[in-house]
Amino acid sequence: MLLLGVMVWLLGQPAIAWAAPTVPHTDDLARAVQEIENLDGLRSGLASSLEGSTDEPTMQTMKEVCRPVGMQAKKLSQENGWQVKQLASKYRNPDHAPDNLHARMAIAAFEQHPDLVGFWDRETLGDQTGSRYYRRIDVEASCLACHGLQNNRPQFVKDNYPQDLAFDFQVGDLRGMYAVFIPDELQMAIQDAVSP
Ligand code: HEC
Repeated sequence: MLLLGVMVWLLGQPAIAWAAPTVPHTDDLARAVQEIENLDGLRSGLASSLEGSTDEPTMQTMKEVCRPVGMQAKKLSQENGWQVKQLASKYRNPDHAPDNLHARMAIAAFEQHPDLVGFWDRETLGDQTGSRYYRRIDVEASCLACHGLQNNRPQFVKDNYPQDLAFDFQVGDLRGMYAVFIPDELQMAIQDAVSP
């Protein structure tokens, strides 16, 4: 009976010991999801502010749509120790080409399942294991000014992106995805910091 009692006590311990550290873990993942929603909202807002304007987008207006998204992704990476990227098989900036097999599979999954908005994957990037969040990016009417027909692309796009593949899209097409990698190491550091 005593042995049984000890076993029950032992079984009870890990549950208590584990409960606290998992809280910041899920917090960080949830925060990444929220930050990506904010990032996507930033682009949609900026792109729709161009709509109705009859002027052809210039270098200046471009800076006000997709470049700030890239800059904000960098900032999120630096501030959190995450790796925040935009990835697309039809990319404009070659830095945004899919960076591993998992990413290519994620794009295929979004292509096949239009209702799939986002999901988490377990991955090893470089020498780090961690969790990677993928979130789809769809084409809206406001994107077509710069991602529509090849010949209608603004001059600055033709001039600055000789390897451009990000055109001939239609509303509702998959444009690409966001990818946020959170290394386990970082998770453990956060857990250590909050543990008594
Ligand atoms: C004013 C022109 C313009 C508009 C409007 C625009 N984009 Fe872009 N987009 C660009 C340029 C230029 C780049 C490359 C930026 C860079 O070098 O990082 C780009 C890059 C991207 C990328 C990163 C992947 C890649 O191809 O390099 C995504 C994703 C994207 N755009 C989605 C959208 C979506 C979605 C919309 C509409 C909501 C939109 N864009 C509207 C000009 C535009």
